[in-house]
Amino acid sequence: MAETHRSFIRFLLNDQTIELAGFAPDLTLLDWLRIDRRLTGTKEGCAEGDCGACTVLVGRMDNGVLTYESVNACIRFVGSLDATHVVTVEHMNRPDGALSAVQQAMVDHHGSQCGFCTPGIVASLHALWLADPEPTEADIERQLQGNLCRCTGYEPIVKAAVAAAKTIPSEDNDRLVKAYAETVETLTALADGARVTIESERGTTYLPADVDDLAALYEAHPGATIVAGSTDVGLWVTKHLREIAPVILVGHLDGLKEIALDEDGLTLGAGVSYTAARGALVSAFPQMAELWDRIGGEQVRNMGTIGGNIANGSPIGDTPPPLIALDATVTLRKGKERRTMPLEAFFLDYGKQDRRPGEFVESVFAPALADDAFFAVYKISKRRDEDISALCAAFRVTLDSEGLVASVRIAFGGMAGTPKRAKAAEAALLGQAWTWDTVSQAREALATDYQPLSDWRASAEYRMLSAQNLMIRFFLETCGAPVRIERRPALAEA
Ligand SMILES: Cc1cc2nc3c(=O)[nH]c(=O)nc-3n(C[C@H](O)[C@H](O)[C@H](O)COP(=O)(O)OP(=O)(O)OC[C@H]3O[C@@H](n4cnc5c(N)ncnc54)[C@H](O)[C@@H]3O)c2cc1C
Ligand code: FES
Ligand code: FES
Repeated sequence: MAETHRSFIRFLLNDQTIELAGFAPDLTLLDWLRIDRRLTGTKEGCAEGDCGACTVLVGRMDNGVLTYESVNACIRFVGSLDATHVVTVEHMNRPDGALSAVQQAMVDHHGSQCGFCTPGIVASLHALWLADPEPTEADIERQLQGNLCRCTGYEPIVKAAVAAAKTIPSEDNDRLVKAYAETVETLTALADGARVTIESERGTTYLPADVDDLAALYEAHPGATIVAGSTDVGLWVTKHLREIAPVILVGHLDGLKEIALDEDGLTLGAGVSYTAARGALVSAFPQMAELWDRIGGEQVRNMGTIGGNIANGSPIGDTPPPLIALDATVTLRKGKERRTMPLEAFFLDYGKQDRRPGEFVESVFAPALADDAFFAVYKISKRRDEDISALCAAFRVTLDSEGLVASVRIAFGGMAGTPKRAKAAEAALLGQAWTWDTVSQAREALATDYQPLSDWRASAEYRMLSAQNLMIRFFLETCGAPVRIERRPALAEA
């Protein structure tokens, strides 16, 4: 139970300290900035986290280090900003008021035409400029996956980012660097470990003090909506006009952000964002790097969490198929009681997960891969970047000394109402020789495992054919066949 309580949140907005109380649980940062604060440099394009016009930076203390990340203000709830530093485009110029390195490079390289996307692009590139002194073109493209520009085109913008990197961030040329020590002091003092309860006419927002407090609060209010990164829940509000109160915010809880990698495997707390997980995840499972960089755009990866992806239970979420193929387990908590189950058992039916009232996802554990295991994951979507999967496939196979399949786990998203294992295909492979003929039989067995739906992402026929072809692709890759399509050459080489 929390020792101290507050009925307001406190955070920094550019160079001002803000205290806010009485706001609605679904008030978005974008609406607050534009309507209440008249900071209209931050734009609204899609209001669903796709276009990046609303990008701002949020700085937060992480293990004693102040780190700024780009986020989508349109789907970020104001309540989640307690003890953070929100930086809008109005605060990204130099301390002397001149254009920042990024802004000047955008001018010099003609990176803007109509200008609607430009504040968001400047914010995204500012985050990269602060974090990475030598970004490659791949880094820049990854940073811009969540920023759509429909008139300039990306080549001048990428050139501007390359040029900006030639200026090193310093106290003379950047307000955030200049105020760094002071901001650390302020944010550290703001994080007082209190439970925050915000009452409003439209319902209550809770910020638990820690994970034990979350457990107590959720048990007491099992009908509340848990909100972590809000990259799913934000759209319930902006697109579906759903009422979500009461809300329990969990994105600030360090106790849900555990990342532990050892010889047994990888544990990720439910509140670990895609960005925070990337290092340990790619080190444990390098085969997941490409998938990871194709989940949302950078802003979504900075906000979205593993726990949110699992708890949401979408059949087209990208983390369940590889985690199920890896034989991962999920740990749930209700009050003081915990239970751990295979992740595949958590998904009961479309929109239905094995989660009791008041029970939340605490962590997920993926066992280490054997050195000789073949493992791969593939995402098929209409657009390469910033798109939801039409289907996602994961394969894990080990062979014995005679080349027979000793173990096999295959899981798909987008092929059924839940992420689901391909048990008939697995049965067709187990104990058989790992050859074209047996893999072809297993390929046919996928038609027993799944009866996919047609929707606007893909037809049932396309899904089945793609799933079958991915199985062949996986087989060819295990034989060393060069079936991967490489990135286009860098601009400089083209
Ligand atoms: C533009 C855009 C692109 C996207 N692209 C992808 C993509 O490529 N692949 C993909 O898989 N997803 C994608 N998503 C969906 C989303 O980003 C992910 O599902 C993300 O992991 C959700 O995490 P979150 O923390 O934002 O969840 P939230 O939105 O905060 O919550 C989602 C659900 O989980 C529940 N919840 C959250 N944490 C817990 C917990 N610890 N215990 C119990 N319940 C909890 C919430 O109550 C809610 O039901 C995209 C979303 C957007 C907006
Ligand atoms: S307005 Fe498009 S991502 Fe926020
Ligand atoms: S400059 Fe017009 S959308 Fe990018």
